[in-house]
Amino acid sequence: MAEGDAELEARLAEQEAFEPSDDFVAQANVTDEGIYEEFEENWPECWDRAGDLLDWDSEYTQTLDDSNPPFYKWFSDGTLNASYNCIDRHIENGEKNRVAIKWEGELGDTRTYTYQDLYREVNEFAAALRDLGVEEDDVVTLYMPMVPELPIAMLACARLGAPHSVVFAGFSAEALATRMQSADSEYLVTCDGYYRRGDALDHLEKANEGLESVDHDTETVVVDRLGDAGHGHSLTENQYDYDELVAEQSGNRIEPVERGAEDMLFLMYTSGTTGQPKGVKHTTGGYLAYAAWTAHSVLDIEKEDTYWCAADIGWITGHSYIVYGPLALGTTTVMYEGTPDYPERDRLWELIEKYSVDIFYTAPTAIRAFMKWGSKFPESRDLSSLRLLGTVGEPINPRAWKWYYKHIGDEDCPVVDTWWQTETGGMMITTLPGIGTMKPGSAGPPLPGIDANIVDTNGEKVEAGRAGYLTVNKPWPGMLRTLYKNDERFINEYWAEYSDLDSDDADDWVYFPEDGAKIDDDDYITILGRVDDVINVSGHRLGTMEIESAIVGVEGVAEAAVVGGNHDVKGEAVYAYVILEDGYEGSDEMSQRIVEGVEDGIGPIARPEQVIFTPELPKTRSGKIMRRLLEEIANGEEELGDTTTLRNPEIVADIQQKVQK
Ligand code: WT7
Repeated sequence: MAEGDAELEARLAEQEAFEPSDDFVAQANVTDEGIYEEFEENWPECWDRAGDLLDWDSEYTQTLDDSNPPFYKWFSDGTLNASYNCIDRHIENGEKNRVAIKWEGELGDTRTYTYQDLYREVNEFAAALRDLGVEEDDVVTLYMPMVPELPIAMLACARLGAPHSVVFAGFSAEALATRMQSADSEYLVTCDGYYRRGDALDHLEKANEGLESVDHDTETVVVDRLGDAGHGHSLTENQYDYDELVAEQSGNRIEPVERGAEDMLFLMYTSGTTGQPKGVKHTTGGYLAYAAWTAHSVLDIEKEDTYWCAADIGWITGHSYIVYGPLALGTTTVMYEGTPDYPERDRLWELIEKYSVDIFYTAPTAIRAFMKWGSKFPESRDLSSLRLLGTVGEPINPRAWKWYYKHIGDEDCPVVDTWWQTETGGMMITTLPGIGTMKPGSAGPPLPGIDANIVDTNGEKVEAGRAGYLTVNKPWPGMLRTLYKNDERFINEYWAEYSDLDSDDADDWVYFPEDGAKIDDDDYITILGRVDDVINVSGHRLGTMEIESAIVGVEGVAEAAVVGGNHDVKGEAVYAYVILEDGYEGSDEMSQRIVEGVEDGIGPIARPEQVIFTPELPKTRSGKIMRRLLEEIANGEEELGDTTTLRNPEIVADIQQKVQK
């Protein structure tokens, strides 16, 4: 490293606050600091600013209906269609030749869809789905990797008013089956395979295996991604080839179905405290308005931009900020199929250079991997097109923030650290890039109109600097409306902790995201992480109970406890403490079988970092597993917290010895 760099590094290490450059501010979408006050004074009508970003078939007259908390309704007498808002209206505005989706395959093959191209294919595929029997409100499952047909299928469903349920392609057959079963989904769109580090993965095999455990009949559409490199599956009776279906519908158009604002746009399953994933319900009006508003105000997207969110559409980040937000704003959204280190560790920087990307949004786990690989990779590419950087998914440590700011943004691009969740639909806590001072490590203040607080167990606000629980005290348009067909669980999971459940006054209802946090004197919030049994591995949300039940399903396993331990790239990694039945041995082979059990039950992302065999788990006198202790052990901490309440304190040293650090 040149001497100048070392000095720069030292200066950055000291610096705690950063300001956006004058050039950035001069062009930013939102620059008036008064917006915070304006939203507060004019609440809830302030949210019409989001609603007004959309084209409504029938205009709404009421912004918020809070008469039956926590079942809030937004823009509820308005009607619209999400696919119309993401495609047709841009064409009507003279933008048919603007690129909507720039797709790059892992092998370097590319596909470009203008808004006109997108219009054509979405219509044709919507027509095909309708011919297969899809009607308004039927849930269509999309089990697909990062191919253009995924957003096309989402928009085709939206056009028909059929909610989609996207299942991340890395999830296992079993995970697919559980989700299809839970949603009574009789339609599946999937894919023959995709590329990962040069290998043509077989995806259809997993989909077929999943379908075997679904009780009802399904119609399946299969996208041919691999062509001759495919795995030679022949389609069965209820399976159709995507290209053939679309070709048969050539030139056909589907009138966008007029949906009520509160009608479901999609369902997204996410992990919670219990073993059963939760079906988060998002709506057509509120969700889309919120995704568009935050993409406009936080990501600063303009239609002329080339914007890239390097997430997977299989997660909420991809729904809101690869598909719905950017396309509602009529911009160019980039999609990349592969991994950041294939064929080389400069792949992402190569793409930014190639497409002159203006805005880049990724996860801290990726940034920590880039740091590890070294700055020579981004330095070998021209990244000067970048104007704004963002992160999401987990806390970002100040060192990683500064590395991103310097080596990717050349100290010239604001970095927005955006806190939100599957359930919130869009960003909630972050600086506005054209306004706010950035403080690495702290996400920032709540967005205008968002009433977030840090409280103690009684719901009282805690002092600045102290750790507490994050709560959201007012509703917002992008919020989940319920858990699919389970209002009771919706209330128990998110509201029971801090609300007066008997009250019908919205002021008595408080949303609890299950995150710990602290706030500083400037109202900047630092997220400390989940306080429930959910862990965050590489920005992917996993339920410890789901992993435990996959492990207990392995022959010979008597009991398992899973915790998240610190990991320098992944943020957290899965540590599995396992008790075997008599007659089984804690061998490498057993360990391997447990890892496979987790891969089959959930997917490779949930694979344990370490399997630790133990004759007992540390339990309190009432028989509860002391997870905190298991976490401390996984983190290699020598000074453990209080163990005096344990029934079996002698086991602790034994387990400690077995964990490899
Ligand atoms: C959990 C939600 C939001 C899309 C991706 C994850 C954690 C998210 C941040 C951030 C610290 C963050 C929280 C949250 N999280 N963003 N900027 N700083 N933590 O969505 O899978 O629903 O997970 O991710 O713990 O509760 P998700």
